[in-house]
Amino acid sequence: MTPVELSTLHHKCFSRPRPWSPNEFKHLLESCFLVERSNAFLLGRFTFDDAEILTLAVSPSERRKGVASLLVKDFLLRATKQGVNRVTLEVAEDNLPALALYDSFSFISIGRREGYYKSTNKQNNVAALVLSCDLSLTKQ
Ligand SMILES: CC(C)(COP(=O)(O)OP(=O)(O)OC[C@H]1O[C@@H](n2cnc3c(N)ncnc32)[C@H](O)[C@@H]1OP(=O)(O)O)[C@@H](O)C(=O)NCCC(=O)NCCS
Repeated sequence: MTPVELSTLHHKCFSRPRPWSPNEFKHLLESCFLVERSNAFLLGRFTFDDAEILTLAVSPSERRKGVASLLVKDFLLRATKQGVNRVTLEVAEDNLPALALYDSFSFISIGRREGYYKSTNKQNNVAALVLSCDLSLTKQ
């Protein structure tokens, strides 16, 4: 997918935090790892023996078909091959579909960032949960 296509799909999938621009994706692609399928992608990053999932998006028309599971599985396999011990990510605490998805891969919550996802109305800010998956404990 091109930076424009990534940004368009991100825009379709996220209202909060703000959608990322084509230029942001262009820069991220220089240092990140992209796993993609038709109308879906996962962007991750490797840092020594840690990895981070930066974003994951599946087009609304493609959801509940196991696409995100395949993307996460591919990323975790790649991370395992690279000798990564731990994969982390941030997710809005009200994002129940994503929380269920990550729970199925044995991610656990290791922290909470109050008001991390900003809204125009401060009262509607949402906390981020920091999730972690210990690859040494997980058989893919
Ligand atoms: C979250 C998201 C990536 C899931 O994608 P998906 O391709 O529909 O997910 P899958 O079909 O692989 O589902 C895997 C599991 O996740 C859970 N899940 C996914 N969508 C769910 C929903 N709407 N409600 C409850 N559980 C859900 C289920 O446990 C599901 O397994 P099951 O279908 O056997 O019950 C997708 O809804 C999305 O792009 N949302 C907007 C962006 C986002 O929230 N990204 C993740 C935060 S970084």
